[in-house]
Amino acid sequence: MLRQISFLPIALTLSSVAQVSEGFENGWDQAAWPNSIRVDGAGGYCGHDFVGTIKVPSSGDVYVRTYLKVTKALTASHVPFITIPDSAQGTNKHLRIGNQSSILMYNRESNDAALPDLSPQGIATSATLTVNEWQCFEYHLSTDGTVETWLNNSTVAGLTVVGGVTNLNDAQRSRSTIVTGLITAVYFGWESYDSDVNTFWFDHIVIASTCIGS
Ligand SMILES: *[C@@H]1O[C@H](CO)[C@@H](O)[C@H](O)[C@H]1NC(C)=O
Ligand SMILES: *[C@@H]1O[C@H](CO)[C@@H](O)[C@H](O)[C@H]1NC(C)=O
Ligand SMILES: *[C@@H]1O[C@H](CO)[C@@H](O)[C@H](O)[C@H]1NC(C)=O
Repeated sequence: MLRQISFLPIALTLSSVAQVSEGFENGWDQAAWPNSIRVDGAGGYCGHDFVGTIKVPSSGDVYVRTYLKVTKALTASHVPFITIPDSAQGTNKHLRIGNQSSILMYNRESNDAALPDLSPQGIATSATLTVNEWQCFEYHLSTDGTVETWLNNSTVAGLTVVGGVTNLNDAQRSRSTIVTGLITAVYFGWESYDSDVNTFWFDHIVIASTCIGS
C-alpha cells in the first residue's frame, strides 16, 4: 500500500512523444502527479516511500527512463525502488524493480516470481547499480509479456524477455500464466522488507510508448 505523507516538488513538461517528461525543475504539478507521495526511506518491514504518476501510455507498450542514484549499498534483503501497479496480476498487485542477492531484479507481487531466477547462473546475467553515482535506467513492459531493461544504455540480458531471444533464467517468471503488462501507474521510491535505510534519487524521468534512450 502506498501512504501519502508529503509531496515532492515536481513539474511536468509534456513533449510530443513522451507521456511524461520530468526534470523536477519547475515545482509540483498536482494535476500531472495526483498521487505524488514521499515517505522517507525508513527501515522496518514494508516501509514505503514513493512518488508516482498514473499518466502512462495506454497503447500496451510502456517505456520508463529515469536517472537514479542510490546513496548507500544495500544488503541482501529485498528492496524495491520502482513499483508498477499491474492489473494483470490482480487488484493492487505490483511488479517491483529492486535489488536482491546483489543484483537488479523484477519481482511479481502476486506470486513472488523473480526475474531473473535467483540462481548463480541467473544472478550472473543481471547487473548491479553503482553506489553514489548517477546512472541511466530504462525498461520496457508490454502487454505481450515483453520485458526489456537497459542500464547505462546497455541491455541487461537477465532482465530481458523478448520474442526470438531465449532467456535461460526466466523459469520462475514463465512458470506463471500471468503476462505482466497491464500497467496503470509507475511509482519511484523505496520499499523495505527488512531493516535497510537508504536514499534514492530520481531525475529526468520520461514515460513514453516508444524507446527513450539516454
Ligand atoms: C544489492 O545488494 C547486494 C547484496 O545482496 C549488495 O552487495 C549491493 O551493493 C546492492 N546494490 C546496491 C546498489 O546497493
Ligand atoms: C553509469 O554511468 C555513470 C556515468 O558515466 C557511471 O558513474 C556509473 O558508474 C555507471 N554505472 C554502471 C552500473 O555502469
Ligand atoms: C545509446 O545507445 C543508442 C543505440 O545503441 C545510441 O544511439 C546512443 O548514442 C547511445 N547513447 C549513449 C549516451 O551512449
